[in-house]
Amino acid sequence: MKNSSRATSAGAPKRLVLLGATGSIGKSCARVILDNPGRFCVEAVVGGRDGAALARCAIELGAKFAAIADASGYADLKAGLAGHRIEVACGPQALEAAARWPADLVVSAIVGAVGLGPTYAAIEAGRVIALANKETLVCAGAPVTRAVKRHGATLLPLDSEHNAIFQALGGRDPSEVVCMTITASGGPFREWSAQRIAKATRAEALAHPKWSMGPKISVDSASLMNKGLELIEAHHLFAIPAEKLAVVVHPQSIVHGLIAFADGSTLAGLANPDMRTAVAHCLAHPDRVASGVAAPDLIALSKLTFEAADLDRFPALRIAREALAEGKGAPTALNAANEIAVAGFLDGRIAFGALPQVVERTLDAMRGAGEIDMPESIEAALAIHHAARDRAAALLA
Ligand SMILES: NC(=O)c1ccc[n+]([C@@H]2O[C@H](COP(=O)([O-])OP(=O)(O)OC[C@H]3O[C@@H](n4cnc5c(N)ncnc54)[C@H](OP(=O)(O)O)[C@@H]3O)[C@@H](O)[C@H]2O)c1
Repeated sequence: MKNSSRATSAGAPKRLVLLGATGSIGKSCARVILDNPGRFCVEAVVGGRDGAALARCAIELGAKFAAIADASGYADLKAGLAGHRIEVACGPQALEAAARWPADLVVSAIVGAVGLGPTYAAIEAGRVIALANKETLVCAGAPVTRAVKRHGATLLPLDSEHNAIFQALGGRDPSEVVCMTITASGGPFREWSAQRIAKATRAEALAHPKWSMGPKISVDSASLMNKGLELIEAHHLFAIPAEKLAVVVHPQSIVHGLIAFADGSTLAGLANPDMRTAVAHCLAHPDRVASGVAAPDLIALSKLTFEAADLDRFPALRIAREALAEGKGAPTALNAANEIAVAGFLDGRIAFGALPQVVERTLDAMRGAGEIDMPESIEAALAIHHAARDRAAALLA
């Protein structure tokens, strides 16, 4: 990760590609773009399977190209864009074509490790990438960061915690940091007993007290797996060793990330809990545009509190920390097993309490079978990813 240079000549709108345009982050991008007329020009939009939503998004943002992953949504996409001069395509190659479309910035906001392929295509094209899709780095951190250097690409952290840290760093070398802390709201179950958490329903897990997000990350936030994935993301983004990374629970979600230096100075990034702040920062970088979000009102907030994360009630964070410390292919397997477990929970096939069990048992089985060697390439990471998905799916079955 490095500071990107000014991408456009003065006055020219910045050309954007939005991967995951129909999702929660995609919608935050659309709001910032539409609130800043003339600043941005959306070239291409990418969605998963909701063709009608992608068509509406392409029209609203004036995109030239709309690509959808799943063939089941292609007819709706074409129907929605009938009469509009917007190119359409479907399938993995279409997604990669969108990612490589000439642009000044690519927003990577597809959910899950399936976002790795298009994000990697943008990296190979040497793009500046606003990275929300943390799974890209959790699944294939080492090969991805090597490819970023090799192709002269740039990763701008869009995840709010990493964005806060990036801003606090202000271009300083992360090796000067003695402790990097990301905060967690604690999620909807922060004050629940372990017994009650184990039986939490889908609706309860999706009811995040502070953030409005897609279903996968909402469940991960409820289990605190999201914080574990973010530690792994921070490790790769900032090239910071696991032992310098910390998590603090901060229910108000105003302070998102902190960095401490050897002299005891600590710099923090504060913002109200609305992704448009990090989105606006990434879209305009290195300039600033209005996000539509006010700065935190400290008098109105009156109190900001911090507490330690409880690894007994939230074992997913412990399991993720262990995978980070272990390294090699453990984070890849962790992420893959978690994707299967979360999908199983959202479909009503497993209880909330089974989520960390599926992940831990998958990791144990893969360790036992010697299947978590260091992934030296994207292909090797994907092989571990698919092996872990198969093992986790077998556990669910
Ligand atoms: N939401 C947040 O506040 C937030 C904050 C920080 C980081 N993030 C990260 O940002 C990413 C997106 O999160 P989100 O909350 O915006 O998710 P979301 O609301 O579920 O949206 C996911 C997006 O990915 C698309 N998609 C799903 N499967 C796909 C596939 N196989 N191929 C291509 N596109 C696919 C979806 O298209 P359809 O609409 O057609 O399904 C949608 O556009 C995640 O990695 C998450 O961890 C999110």
